[in-house]
Amino acid sequence: TVTHVVLTGGIGSRLWPLSRKTLPKQYLELFEGESLFEKTVVRNKNVSSKTIVVGNIENYKMSNAIMSKFSKPFTHIIEAVPRNTAAAIAFAAFASEPEDILLITPSDHIIEGKSSYTLALQQAIRLANQDYLVTFGIKPTKPETGYGYIEFDKENVIAFHEKPSSKKAENYLKKGNYFWNSGLFCFKAGRFLIELEKQEPEVYWASKTVWDANQDGFLDYDLSLNIPSISVDYAVMERSKDIKVVPAHFDWSDLGSFESVYDYLVQKGHPMDSNKNITIGTSLHTTFIGVKNCILIYTADALMVLQKENSQEVKQVYQQLESIA
Ligand code: GDD
Ligand code: MG
Repeated sequence: TVTHVVLTGGIGSRLWPLSRKTLPKQYLELFEGESLFEKTVVRNKNVSSKTIVVGNIENYKMSNAIMSKFSKPFTHIIEAVPRNTAAAIAFAAFASEPEDILLITPSDHIIEGKSSYTLALQQAIRLANQDYLVTFGIKPTKPETGYGYIEFDKENVIAFHEKPSSKKAENYLKKGNYFWNSGLFCFKAGRFLIELEKQEPEVYWASKTVWDANQDGFLDYDLSLNIPSISVDYAVMERSKDIKVVPAHFDWSDLGSFESVYDYLVQKGHPMDSNKNITIGTSLHTTFIGVKNCILIYTADALMVLQKENSQEVKQVYQQLESIA
């Protein structure tokens, strides 16, 4: 059986001030009146017989409200404190049977193209059944440094490179046998846990202790602090020898930065001026003079203007504000 695992831990700090701790981007009903979380569940409804939502104490009510729209049974794992994706996936694996195929997806991506998505999933499930850890590769269009890169030879993965320097990213783009890692994964629950124990025993054992002590899916705060915070990409994908990649022919955007939001909106026909400046969140008449590729973001209590290319720096602004608050 296939279990859909929805990761909904992040707060989308690179999309501040649109995305907030109290309302992370996956719950914003910005997309045809639906949230990205809901779209994610709908997209994977027919391929999976179960859903596991792994989220945190701040957002579990929002996740519950969306999940209750579906008649499908689901398991909720509620982290007391985020310990990154290696641990989040481990919890879902502990909650499953070793032979269950887990389809891990973020809750905050845009994916379009139903038939190519289904086709990619079928391929992934076939490989996961053969005990591989499967990634989905997206053809890169720019030297993005916020992604993982999959160096491939057909469906074999030569190496996985998480968040390279811009110099390396440019080189990967030129070479051509590199995909972006989409952030979706597919593997058997037991297979993942074996690999995690091998590559990051500390994460494995600390997560196991936390899972064994869970109360109806609620995880203990103090015990959770013992889990090293590391993403699945660094912990497992960069190190494992048994990774395969399925090329994704669907449209994909992780909307992870204002640059990708910009690209998505522009592609959807969002208005821009002759210097390619855009506004988000306001219909006020806005004039940009002498600047190009800028995004103005307007919310009820915050305003930000940024150069599209500097989108990765928003995270630091968020961190600064958080340390003051
Ligand atoms: N439950 C839970 N707990 N979920 C988490 C946690 C956590 O502690 N941390 C992150 N997540 C969720 C996020 O909400 C997001 O949906 C997903 O896991 C991935 O985390 P990100 O923080 O968004 O990762 P990233 O964007 O830096 O990088 C990943 O995604 C890229 C594509 O979007 C990597 O997998 C890259 O290799 C990949 O290219
Ligand atoms: Mg992301």
